[in-house]
Amino acid sequence: MHQLAVHELRSNFPALARTGPSGPVAYFDGPAGTQVPQAVIDAVADYLAHHNANCGAPFGTSEETDAILSEAHRAVADFLGASDPGEIAFGPNMTTLTLALSRAVGKTWQAGDEIIVSRLDHDANVTPWVLAARDAGAVVQHIEIDPADCTLDLESFENALSEKTRLVAVGYASNCVGTINPVRRITEMARQVGALSFIDAVHYAPHGLIDVGEIGCDFLVCSAYKFFGPHVGMLWGRRKLLESVTPYKLRPSTNKLPGRWMTGTQNHECIAGVRAAIDYIATIGAQAGQAAESRRDKLRAAFNVITPHERELGRQLLTGLRELPNVRVWGITDEDRLNQRVPTVSFTHERLTPREIAARLAESGLFVWPGNHYALPLTETLGLEPHGTLRIGVVHYNTADEIDRLLAALRRVIA
Ligand SMILES: Cc1ncc(COP(=O)(O)O)c(C=O)c1O
Repeated sequence: MHQLAVHELRSNFPALARTGPSGPVAYFDGPAGTQVPQAVIDAVADYLAHHNANCGAPFGTSEETDAILSEAHRAVADFLGASDPGEIAFGPNMTTLTLALSRAVGKTWQAGDEIIVSRLDHDANVTPWVLAARDAGAVVQHIEIDPADCTLDLESFENALSEKTRLVAVGYASNCVGTINPVRRITEMARQVGALSFIDAVHYAPHGLIDVGEIGCDFLVCSAYKFFGPHVGMLWGRRKLLESVTPYKLRPSTNKLPGRWMTGTQNHECIAGVRAAIDYIATIGAQAGQAAESRRDKLRAAFNVITPHERELGRQLLTGLRELPNVRVWGITDEDRLNQRVPTVSFTHERLTPREIAARLAESGLFVWPGNHYALPLTETLGLEPHGTLRIGVVHYNTADEIDRLLAALRRVIA
């Protein structure tokens, strides 16, 4: 079996060389934003140094900008398994894109229509839809969760679905507890009643290959800063829908795809960096000895080695946490079900708050996140407000040594 060449890969990331008073820093804050490889930094700098211009004029830097953006649309299409780069819209971040789309889609709803959101989601995939429903007089239904393992309760989904349902918004993976949702089944059930489906793939994107065709959704969003790129969001939608729904846009800006959904001047340098991030991921499989030709196949090869590496780290982390006294891990902990979660692990301690633990770990150069992670519907449902959880996020550049250091520090802090 091919293995991820983690130490080789880490040398691509300048930030991973950071040291503090107690030695090397270990980044477990990937769910809030991952570090970036040098190739991404170079792509951003190269754009600003040599190609900086606005789009659409008949001179060198403007034409180069158009070409760089086109290539980035193609790269994201490959990343998401879409065949049409025109179906990819860039924007400042997932939240802003979702607020824009929800306002526009919400205009097609009427009083009495229904939408469905989940208790497991980041608020960016809940409140935009709730606000759009409020404006239209539509009713909001919820997919409940099983608090024992933080999985979606599909029976409550089935009960909420009806011919009145216009849209179902659900996450691919939880950014708080790591649960991977059965998105294909959910979109299929939505389609059966004629509802649209919107998938928030922000948290899933660094962990697994996304395939919009296989998922069967109508819209999908993600954010490059969660998969080793700069701070840029992106939206994929079916061409027919992106063409038929009317966006809030300015008169002089194009009405063609993808531009009609990309309001204002874009962050060109960071979009250049998005392409570099995807191309970086595409190199990971080859480094592990997996041959592939197209960028899509290279991405598939990359996730073939990323997933087992991350899963082993997740197993190591969950095993270590199990031995800590007065700690409750939220989400799937069963060793046999690690394929149903990504290695984003949240726990609470009986006495210490997540912020207290995070501050103590930071003294040892261990960067973890305390709070609700904006997964407020979940932390409220679990009764974990106001402190939330302590979240440890593992991505492909993390190592078994880092997990050992983290567990040793946790044993000290918690004892
Ligand atoms: C699952 C999930 N959805 C949505 C968001 C919001 O993304 P953005 O910061 O790009 O608006 C985040 C950010 O943490 C997230 O983790």
